[in-house]
Amino acid sequence: MALFGRKNTTVGLDIGSGLIKVAVVDHSKSAPELVRVAIMPLLADAIVDGEIMDPGIVADAIISCLAAAGVTTKSVVTAVGGRDVIIKKILIDRVKEEQARELMRWEAEQHVPFDMESVELDFQILDPTGTEEQMSVLLVAAKRELIEAKVRLLTEAGLGAGVVDVDAFALHNAFELNHPDAMSGIVALVNIGNEVTNINIVENGVPILTRDLPAGTRRFREALQSERGLGSGEAANLVQGTERSEHLDAILAPRAEELAVGIERAAAFLASSSRSGSQVTAVYLCGGGSRTPGLLDQLATRLRLPVVSANPLANLVVRDGAFESLVTDDVAPLLMLPIGLALRQSA
Ligand SMILES: Nc1ncnc2c1ncn2[C@@H]1O[C@H](COP(=O)(O)OP(=O)(O)OP(=O)(O)O)[C@@H](O)[C@H]1O
Ligand SMILES: [Mg+2]
Repeated sequence: MALFGRKNTTVGLDIGSGLIKVAVVDHSKSAPELVRVAIMPLLADAIVDGEIMDPGIVADAIISCLAAAGVTTKSVVTAVGGRDVIIKKILIDRVKEEQARELMRWEAEQHVPFDMESVELDFQILDPTGTEEQMSVLLVAAKRELIEAKVRLLTEAGLGAGVVDVDAFALHNAFELNHPDAMSGIVALVNIGNEVTNINIVENGVPILTRDLPAGTRRFREALQSERGLGSGEAANLVQGTERSEHLDAILAPRAEELAVGIERAAAFLASSSRSGSQVTAVYLCGGGSRTPGLLDQLATRLRLPVVSANPLANLVVRDGAFESLVTDDVAPLLMLPIGLALRQSA
């Protein structure tokens, strides 16, 4: 019997190229509660272009970050993303789940530009109770190599087999809880990190398209140094600061343009591949880069859309002391992904 004091927490581990982030969520009450958060910087160049260059350094940072969060379990939820993960909404003749499973490999061959021998497939029937002749299925394909590299890294950090989720789904979980307004119509969830910006297009609550752009705070800092002559410390302070400045405005303009084009391209791709119209009606920003002063305003002006700063704590119960010495408002936007991972119950 474990009715009381039942341990039912999930540890979300986000291995970013700039920061390792851990969020611990307790699922034993009626509503999930965030009990602990930890953030640990990673040496530059330990992860480049999504590739783990130095597994030892990354594993050490993971160990320190988990220790800082007081985590003792060996089971964590982490995720894969990037160009080696493909999410696609497809239409197939309505069949039972078991039959759909058998069909998926064949379907994937038509829709996924990867060698089928080297991918892991998963799928979800989006309208299981529908009566139409055809049904929508969300197909997910991830290169096996990518998942294996993640699992190797976890092993190196002394962790057991946990759950390997998909970035876009974890982000989506966090949005579902905290921004229910983002679950109707077509919206873009944009996670601006250190190296990468993930653009996730969500249609009526279903993440149907994901794209990555090589843009993030690292480029912002580099541009401040090379184009504006600032030192590396000054550049980092401006990017992480709270004030707009001439320097930032200047270097952010082309980056905001790049992001806007990325969002527009994703939407246009959707229009060409779906039967419905596909106008993005709002953009939600998260990730460390979303805090860069002036970026949100520049994007909103350029896109002429509401651009909202997303908050993973908007509807989440937070236990006293969960953030320890971290300033909650400063780090909240960085925690969308790890919190989304920790919202999973089946770790
Ligand atoms: N309070 C903060 N503490 C630390 N970094 C911050 C803070 N606010 C903004 N930043 C910026 O956010 C960046 C990290 O953002 P984030 O954690 O989203 O990226 P990441 O997940 O490490 O990178 P990626 O997803 O691209 O691999 C830092 O490099 C820094 O420039
Ligand atoms: Mg990230």
